[in-house]
Amino acid sequence: MQTQLASLYPYHIATLKQRADAALAAGGFDHLLISSGAQHYQFLDDMPYPYQVSAQFKAWLPVTRAPYSWLVYTPGAKPKLIYLQPHDYWHVVPEAPSGYWAEHFDIEIIRDGRDAIALLPKNIARCAIIAEPQATLGDYVPNNPEAVVNYLHYQRAYKTDYELVMLRVASKLGARAHRAAEAAFHQGKSEYDIQLAYLAAAHQGENELPYGNIVCINEHGAILHYTDQQRFPPAQIHSFLIDAGASFHGYASDITRTYAAPHASEFQQLIDAVDTAQLDFCAKVRARQSYPDLHIHAHHVLAEILRQQGFIRMSAESAVESGVSSAFFPHGLGHFIGLQVHDVGGFQKNIAGDTIAKPAAHPYLRLTRTLEPRQVVTIEPGIYFIDMLLAKLKDGAHSNDIVWSKVDAFRRYGGVRIEDDVVCTESAPENLTRDAFAATQTTIAESAIGGG
Ligand code: GLY
Repeated sequence: MQTQLASLYPYHIATLKQRADAALAAGGFDHLLISSGAQHYQFLDDMPYPYQVSAQFKAWLPVTRAPYSWLVYTPGAKPKLIYLQPHDYWHVVPEAPSGYWAEHFDIEIIRDGRDAIALLPKNIARCAIIAEPQATLGDYVPNNPEAVVNYLHYQRAYKTDYELVMLRVASKLGARAHRAAEAAFHQGKSEYDIQLAYLAAAHQGENELPYGNIVCINEHGAILHYTDQQRFPPAQIHSFLIDAGASFHGYASDITRTYAAPHASEFQQLIDAVDTAQLDFCAKVRARQSYPDLHIHAHHVLAEILRQQGFIRMSAESAVESGVSSAFFPHGLGHFIGLQVHDVGGFQKNIAGDTIAKPAAHPYLRLTRTLEPRQVVTIEPGIYFIDMLLAKLKDGAHSNDIVWSKVDAFRRYGGVRIEDDVVCTESAPENLTRDAFAATQTTIAESAIGGG
């Protein structure tokens, strides 16, 4: 793995330099300064929040735990890493830079954050400073120039081969942990205990995950971002929805699976239908596919499932046109993924930062671009039974088109969501998630027969 990353890294950093050259030219700057990010503290307290490295910084090097460090890039020069390793016996000090990436930087170790000032380019007016306000260093005040940021965000959508390896590993870690969570669910564990099983299998602490895990038993699946984690299982377990990822050197996976309890065959039928539809949407992650069109297509397919399985009496067509499908599928089909779980640039039309509007009546869609090779997206259709949205539907003009007895019977299951991370290529898409689950299966089978 390290050998593979080492062989791909030179091209990756060359790509970042090219992008930085163009971004600086677009903004009229000579130097790019990127802060790794500041440590944040709770209000009127000396307790820190978990540190999160800036995505702009970790794009350049696989370092995710180095607050108050800086990357300095001047076109034509070797990038400089100003790396803070404080003399500190209270906290873990960031490890000394080493590995395949280190030789690509001039590395300056500093012991105090303010020592960076002497090492930064002198002409501050010529610097594009990408940082949060808390990372201000003397007169080096972050300006985050729009032209520079827009350029970099637009290009972040196109993953290098190095990044695709990172994303594959993040998916494998996530799939392994999902298997453990599924097993814990079948053992009747609580949401909290399922979460512990997940973390153990991922070998990651909660703060290392790309987002807070969504672990839902029964009707909790109807809360799209449910993160409460009940300590005890309910008396009756009907269903399980888990939306959880893993990180690898700062790259994310984002995976959702839904399971029915053995007695809930009616819910299993719904899961199977959504799963089949989801695979078909994944197969459509092709170059030149408009993502908003795919989202609208998903509405039609999901509405047809609702009709066929007896939840609605109207045609799929009218369910979509009237907004009824949005009561059951009230979020976007997916988003870019990479260094951030909701990766940047999803609405950008071009490097200048013009945007592509969301389709009317679809406010939660996070991606409006047309797909191109090297973009990585999530595909996450869902059908939910959300009290708040169903109440609105009941009061609305289409109430008579809903089979309420059937809908009410499904409220206890919460909802179904199936989510994979998919790479758009020049030809068939690469499904990182399904591949990762298949590899986990192979590993389990191999260990059962005593193999590697
Ligand atoms: N999977 C969590 C999210 O996309 O928000």
